[in-house]
Amino acid sequence: MALPELFLQDLKLRNSIEDIASSYVQFKRRGRNMVGLCPFHNEKTPSFHLYPESGSFYCFGCGVGGDVITFIRRIENLDYIEAVKFLADRAGLPMPETGVDDTISKLRVRILEINRETARFYHSVLRNSEGKKGLDYFLQRHLLPATITHFGLGFAPATRFALVDHLKNKGYTVEEMIQSNVAVKTRSGRVADRFFNRVMFPIIDLRGNVIAFGGRTMTDQKPKYLNTSDTLVFKKSYGLFAMNFAKNSEEQQLILAEGYMDVIALHQAGFVNAIAGLGTALTTEQVHLISRYAKEVILAYDADQAGQKATSRAIEMLRSVGLQVKILSITGGKDPDEYIRSFGEQGAVRFKQLIEKSGNDVEYRLQKIKTTCNMQTPAGKVQYLNKGAELLATLNNPIEQEIYAGKLAEEANVERRTVLLLVKRFYQQRYRSQEKKEFREFQQQVSGLRDHINPDKRENLRAANAEEAIIAYLFQNPDMAQYILSMLPPEKFSTAFNRRVYKVIVGRMMNGVSVSLTDISDIFNMEEISSIARILAKYHEVSVRQQDAEKYINIILEEKFKLNIHDVQYAQTQDIQNYLARLRKQKQ
Ligand code: UTP
Ligand code: MN
Repeated sequence: MALPELFLQDLKLRNSIEDIASSYVQFKRRGRNMVGLCPFHNEKTPSFHLYPESGSFYCFGCGVGGDVITFIRRIENLDYIEAVKFLADRAGLPMPETGVDDTISKLRVRILEINRETARFYHSVLRNSEGKKGLDYFLQRHLLPATITHFGLGFAPATRFALVDHLKNKGYTVEEMIQSNVAVKTRSGRVADRFFNRVMFPIIDLRGNVIAFGGRTMTDQKPKYLNTSDTLVFKKSYGLFAMNFAKNSEEQQLILAEGYMDVIALHQAGFVNAIAGLGTALTTEQVHLISRYAKEVILAYDADQAGQKATSRAIEMLRSVGLQVKILSITGGKDPDEYIRSFGEQGAVRFKQLIEKSGNDVEYRLQKIKTTCNMQTPAGKVQYLNKGAELLATLNNPIEQEIYAGKLAEEANVERRTVLLLVKRFYQQRYRSQEKKEFREFQQQVSGLRDHINPDKRENLRAANAEEAIIAYLFQNPDMAQYILSMLPPEKFSTAFNRRVYKVIVGRMMNGVSVSLTDISDIFNMEEISSIARILAKYHEVSVRQQDAEKYINIILEEKFKLNIHDVQYAQTQDIQNYLARLRKQKQ
């Protein structure tokens, strides 16, 4: 099933991991390698390492790693074949025709077709008598017909089989409909529409594919919105509503609201850079996506308590990837949609003023802190100073720290220098604890206390570590494969995952050919590839020498023998004799 080796080599050659990763991550060179902030999790100290020599990467913070194909899979959210296609396209390489297992890719294509057809269907219903209820609902919410068309809004009929019947006529199977999550199996075993009697909002990705739907009831029925569950083409925590439109806005500024209706109202009022999540709290993935299209985010969450809480959380997340943040304060307990509507014709102008007045996030947060301190008393002022300085310590920009330290100093009536000293102290504390945390996580991963991929490791730490050293040794010295295999048959591995990795690579290396992560990235899943990348990363700086390799082999055999001893009746005499012979040889 694998892709031809020559093709993969060519692909690798023309897509160096350095080039590819550099368009997503800012690197600093460190010796032969490169280091940057991980694009797969939030961090402030760089732990994302790139190893051009072996064409691999590994993040010591979150444990994600792999080769160039895995990198693209993760960052573009693609499956294996799609990532290969992505890289082939980029390099102008034609894809090989045969031998590719593309069942999943084909299903994805079918799901996307079903979604598109479904969106068309719902939209067309809105135009006939069956959908009048839906159209009336949208009009009553002050949407213009042009807005309804622009967003492709629709209506899911109340009869429970309208869509399923329609899709059947178009040649789709019920299995495919269920996979798309536009249909569900009912208790009676029939397959029925998932959405009925709801107004429908299609969710469209950056490439223009319909990937999911949100469906709103027109009454107080719960849930208010029903959304597509995760499918092969949709991950709710990644999605951003209207990002397909907003990404084209030139200002490098996005307005982040809470609801579909807010975003639609904003676009209708001319704010075409408005987006929203899909009903989940803001996620790391969304933040990374945002940071690729904007420098500044204006937070326009609801004015209620939940919205304010979400705002505080969002500020921190957006900040942590270097985005500038401004906060809108919408007065009168409203969301952006209601706010705009409440001013009628003036809505757009008033919202624009709101943006112009919007405070920057530091001011917003200082203000919040201030309300909790009694500024009339010295103790209250000290409290404000301390909390304020602690906040300023989270800013990575020294100019900002200076500016707000000045403001804080003024308000508490002390010297700016004093505040800055305080800030510095908090900053150092924070930095140290952050580093400690990342180091702890790294240690846990390396020591195997937290290895889901190789659960045997926990119980067989000594063996597992030696096994990993041998795996790293082989990657570095493929010409030694034959020799190693003659001394170390795969059965001698104590941990199942390492045994599997060993079998695969040693088999491929038999003719002395080198093997890279790319050559095996269709055999292992992404988590497994991360684990192998971790092994490589562990030995990148300190390569394994031949004498070390022999020592490790002894350890592996010894540990396996110990394991077998637990069950003496199964230990073969030959094994025991070999083991004793080895021990003697070692002692000489
Ligand atoms: P809101 O209730 O603020 O939605 O929820 P809204 O878009 O302003 O809706 P209207 O104005 O009442 O019609 C914010 C977002 O949270 C998600 C949806 O994405 C919604 O747009 N949500 C909300 C759900 O997914 N399910 C729910 O039941 C409610
Ligand atoms: Mn609303």
